[in-house]
Amino acid sequence: MSRTLEAIQYTRGNLCILNQLALPHETIFEPVLNVQDGHAAIKTMKTRGAPAIAIVAALSLAVDAHARLEKNEFGSVDQAKEFLLSSLDYLKTSRPTAVNLFDAAAKLATLINNVAQDAKESSQVVNACIEAAEQMLVDDVQDNKNIGKYGAEYIVNNVRDKSNISVLTHCNTGSLATAGWGTALGIIRDLHHNGQLKHAFCTETRPYNQGSRLTAYELVYESIPSTLICDSMASALLRLNPNVQAIIVGADRVAANGDTANKIGTYQLAITAKHHGILFIVAAPSTSIDLSMQSGKEIVIEERPANELVTTTGLLEDNQSATVRTAAQGIHVWNPSFDVTPSDLVSAIVTEKGVAVKQPGQSEFDLKSFLS
Ligand code: MRU
Repeated sequence: MSRTLEAIQYTRGNLCILNQLALPHETIFEPVLNVQDGHAAIKTMKTRGAPAIAIVAALSLAVDAHARLEKNEFGSVDQAKEFLLSSLDYLKTSRPTAVNLFDAAAKLATLINNVAQDAKESSQVVNACIEAAEQMLVDDVQDNKNIGKYGAEYIVNNVRDKSNISVLTHCNTGSLATAGWGTALGIIRDLHHNGQLKHAFCTETRPYNQGSRLTAYELVYESIPSTLICDSMASALLRLNPNVQAIIVGADRVAANGDTANKIGTYQLAITAKHHGILFIVAAPSTSIDLSMQSGKEIVIEERPANELVTTTGLLEDNQSATVRTAAQGIHVWNPSFDVTPSDLVSAIVTEKGVAVKQPGQSEFDLKSFLS
């Protein structure tokens, strides 16, 4: 298996995350000692990407609870349960859009409640929670591998010209956004490893540049033939380069009908994909599908601080990091972190369970049936 980057380093009782704000210039791993550190890492986007957010939240609880157990801080089963459940509620306030965090928290809360019912010792509840969090880290890599395999197969079987497959992706959905391998970028990795990829294009992904800072970094790291464009070049690329036969993106939350919340800019890419008659593929683990929401209208879109749009951070010639203002002083700023792409623009949703498509003549997906 070829090397991929690692953004989450974990052994029982120890968690370190790669500070993605410092990439691509510096590789800094920072310890996460407790749920406060986990919450801060997610909120400030040192850790970002829907699956990684959920896993770091769960593992921050695991290391925090582990340390407290070692110090005999839980006097009873109820005390341990109360700490674990209130910590999960707190972690859920870090970022609102990616459903994976809420899904992970709900699964852990159910487990904690169930184990606490029959537990005699607080260690039973805490250890069950730690083991479940650790399993999420393991499962995510395997889920991504399956997404990569299914997605590459789907693309090869559905493009016009199998021998010249170039793709465009948006934001960062790779090893840095997950426990490893990646979703949309996982599909690109699979195409590349199968010898089926001519070229990958990645958008800069304004305003926070996850594409130019992180995806470009991963593509270069793995020697995948690739080119960076800025977001406003996508339509021109599709018009001029017939080899670009698919746009592949990740998801932060997919409603039951297939409406997909993902990084701001995804919607306009879906429109241009339809205009140019190419595939528009959403790649996400089934934990990104929120069956409680019938359509994308219900999805809460996070708004980020204005400074993320009006400033940019990089290296000066002397290699010192600097943040500079790029916008006119006094201008109002709207900075939604995500948008919702309506299901009629989505060709397929690739999950670890297989590829969901619409029934002939339908403009919406039936993801409830797909997952049942
Ligand atoms: O704001 P971010 O960087 O957390 O946004 C990330 C995205 O929108 C990704 O496309 C999505 O989370 C999928 S990551 C596999």
